[in-house]
Amino acid sequence: LAVAGGAGAVAGAGLQLAASSDQPTAAAPETTTVPLGSVGDRIVPFRGARQAGISTPVQRQSHARIAAFDLVPGADADALRALLQRWTTAAEALTAGRPAGDRTDTMTADSGPAGLTITVGFGPSLFGKADIPAGARPEALTPLPAFPGETLDATRSNGDLGVLVAADDSVVVFSALRTLEQLAAGVATPRWQFAGFTRGRGVTTNEGATVRNLMGQLDGTKNPKPSEATFGKTVFVADDGWMRGGSYLVVRRIRMLLDEWEDLPVAAQEQVIGRKKASGAPLSGGVETTPANFGRRGSDGELMIPADSHMRLATAAFNRGAAMLRRGYSFADPQPGGGVEAGLIFLAWQADPRTGFIPVQQNLIAGHDRLSAFTRHETSALFAMPGGVATGEFLGQRLFD
Ligand code: HEM
Repeated sequence: LAVAGGAGAVAGAGLQLAASSDQPTAAAPETTTVPLGSVGDRIVPFRGARQAGISTPVQRQSHARIAAFDLVPGADADALRALLQRWTTAAEALTAGRPAGDRTDTMTADSGPAGLTITVGFGPSLFGKADIPAGARPEALTPLPAFPGETLDATRSNGDLGVLVAADDSVVVFSALRTLEQLAAGVATPRWQFAGFTRGRGVTTNEGATVRNLMGQLDGTKNPKPSEATFGKTVFVADDGWMRGGSYLVVRRIRMLLDEWEDLPVAAQEQVIGRKKASGAPLSGGVETTPANFGRRGSDGELMIPADSHMRLATAAFNRGAAMLRRGYSFADPQPGGGVEAGLIFLAWQADPRTGFIPVQQNLIAGHDRLSAFTRHETSALFAMPGGVATGEFLGQRLFD
């Protein structure tokens, strides 16, 4: 409250100055400098061994846009390289709170970077274009297989380039992506874009607490944690190729059928996931962080965590260790006529989708995941997000080495 009140007071003073510029004697400044609040002035370093926006910041920012671009026909390697160089320069500036060009300066000048991260990668369809040999495509970047029972919207799936922009301020996110779009002109055109949100920074005092999705569940409890020894191996590519230090991102726009879901009594909703709705504790007992006991049976002899519950079918122990870092964002897009399409922009990061998303999704389908009655996978994309950008390098440079 103190921060919000302080910022408001300063903005108010700015408005007063502007109003008094009508007076012939007052020399009104062109702009006012507003001191940044603790949310606005936060910087997540752009350069490093790994791209920002995958596991940093540890608590994901409150707003994100994920966008795909396609190369224009005839764009060559030089054009793509130059585009990635322009994006690198812009991303480095914007994430540090500096202007990236003339047109969007005023959008972020008075908000700071607000924890902005810009993460960039390549889709399977890029290979074979822009003089990039089809053979340079890693096996892990093979397009995702078709999963039984889903109908995907091709126009909002896939793409040559993928960009995830996230910050604790929606204006910062919008204007940063807008800047990247402008810088792509003539080389790559926007293909699709999704906007998502999660809890705002500073809303609770426990920054590390699991956040609820739009079904009301605590979502992310059993994510791999940076403090765990296996975290790096699960999320980041270890080999020596151009993807070293990178991560594969699976994007799925998953609609939630909220009317049906909300008709379900809470006890039944808990059976769908395998956890208590309010606390996130496994149905086998304990608190949110208590390890699930999948063999435990109740007095009725039934498994306390049902065999077809989402959590049981998705857990690594029943998927030969397959795991991923889920850092999705909620969406709630207004529709003509007053309705809303709501759900999850599912974003999963892993060292290899063949030992991450793919087998888990196959197991969810084969096991008739109870959650699937309340969700629809609508779109799909896979991107290879290369390793971090070292000093002097540009985004994805090693692909061209
Ligand atoms: C766990 C919700 C889709 C993989 C969970 C949990 C919830 C949840 C509430 C339990 C808490 C937690 O550990 O996070 C959802 C919703 C989805 C969705 C609402 C769609 C709208 C998916 C998909 C996958 C997936 C598509 C991967 C193919 C997982 C995994 C776990 C999990 C790996 C952790 C299981 C464990 O080890 O306990 N999900 N999920 N989820 N979900 Fe999902």
